[in-house]
Amino acid sequence: MIIDSMKRTMADARATVFVAAVLLSVISGINGSSAPAASRCNFPAIYNFGDSNSDTGAISAAFWPIPPPYGVTYFRKPSGRHSDGRLIIDFIAERLRLPLLSSYLDSIGTDFRHGANFATAGSPIRRQNETIMDGVSPFSLDIQTSQFAQFKDRTTELHRHAARYCDTMTLPNPKEFSRALYTLDIGQNDLVVGFRKLTMPQIKAQIPDIINQFAAAVVNLYQKGSRAFWIHNTGPIGCLPGTRMYFRSKQPGLFDSHGCIRGHNAIALEFNRQLKARVALLRAHLRHASLVYVDIYSAKYHLISNAKVYGFDDPMKICCGHHKDNVHVWCGQRVRINGTEVVGTACSAPRTCISWDGVHYSEAANEWIATRILNGSYSDPPLPISNACS
Ligand SMILES: *[C@@H]1O[C@H](CO)[C@@H](O)[C@H](O)[C@H]1NC(C)=O
Ligand SMILES: *[C@@H]1O[C@H](CO)[C@@H](O)[C@H](O)[C@H]1NC(C)=O
Ligand SMILES: *[C@@H]1O[C@H](CO)[C@@H](O)[C@H](O)[C@H]1NC(C)=O
Repeated sequence: MIIDSMKRTMADARATVFVAAVLLSVISGINGSSAPAASRCNFPAIYNFGDSNSDTGAISAAFWPIPPPYGVTYFRKPSGRHSDGRLIIDFIAERLRLPLLSSYLDSIGTDFRHGANFATAGSPIRRQNETIMDGVSPFSLDIQTSQFAQFKDRTTELHRHAARYCDTMTLPNPKEFSRALYTLDIGQNDLVVGFRKLTMPQIKAQIPDIINQFAAAVVNLYQKGSRAFWIHNTGPIGCLPGTRMYFRSKQPGLFDSHGCIRGHNAIALEFNRQLKARVALLRAHLRHASLVYVDIYSAKYHLISNAKVYGFDDPMKICCGHHKDNVHVWCGQRVRINGTEVVGTACSAPRTCISWDGVHYSEAANEWIATRILNGSYSDPPLPISNACS
């Protein structure tokens, strides 16, 4: 989804299926308000792996900056995030009383003392035969874990020779890697690329390999000493209004009662079923690890199906962008159409929207989801994030 910029500008919207990122979810401690969460595990750092649902600046640093009005609600300027404000990973960091994560790929003003973020918008689990111009990030999950390995090794090396280097000040203490929280939220883009190129049965047939590669990444991190894992499943991608608006078919049963594309959600649910089973296997196999599986799908779907109850507008509304009469200008883009400039601007009340740009959730939705998942009510085992090390 990410690379809206160019692609969208060309406005051949129709063919486009965006690669979106998956969200991260979080869970965390106890009852939102009262509970100091840094409790039991006392995580000194967070290392995150994922896609646009948890990218805090990688794509902006590596390719093109995400334009305004992204970031307008919270940061008041673009912050490298695909939202009007904070992402679930930001709410996780806040809950654990840690600073918001810098992106590993960002070379300006970063601080990695309390972790690093390897997520990049458009990242899949498996390497794809596509480029950033298709909206797919080259930093697939295996590359992200390899970047983490390099980060860890070089940090350790620098500390050994600390006297000769000053920049260890913005790096973590190597002793803390094994006590950190490792969060993963990825898989959505593998499915979205599939929707673009394959039939449903073909996508389904690929899920086992996608899950195998996910598991390989977790094992890889475990072998590097990671112990506490917080794993988000994939969201209800059939409910993304930015995809849904290209489906106008009257075909009965295409949409569910909330307007979500049933077939896409069915694939997400199948992916999640296999992911959950694999996490259970990993739990048996990685004896010194704690693996918490978080059902982001259910949290998001609950929000979408009860939008009004929680004070949100129609979940199919897109806050930022211009989508009218077959003219689609994505959030933050400007396009000249028949001599007139059309701008993808934001709605007046982003806080009432679930979807910020058609693919990514608003800060208000992210906060709602984070509040629900952080206390363990969507996790298996039902641990709040503050206790995800046991
Ligand atoms: C990419 O293309 C190669 C060669 O055609 C193929 O073996 C591989 O499975 C493809 N990868 C994906 C993710 O489609
Ligand atoms: C642009 O102008 C052409 C020719 O007048 C017209 O057919 C087309 O619908 C216009 N496009 C939009 C998006 O208004
Ligand atoms: C978690 O928080 C939500 C929202 O505040 C609440 O509805 C739910 O009951 C809580 N669950 C647990 C296990 O504390």
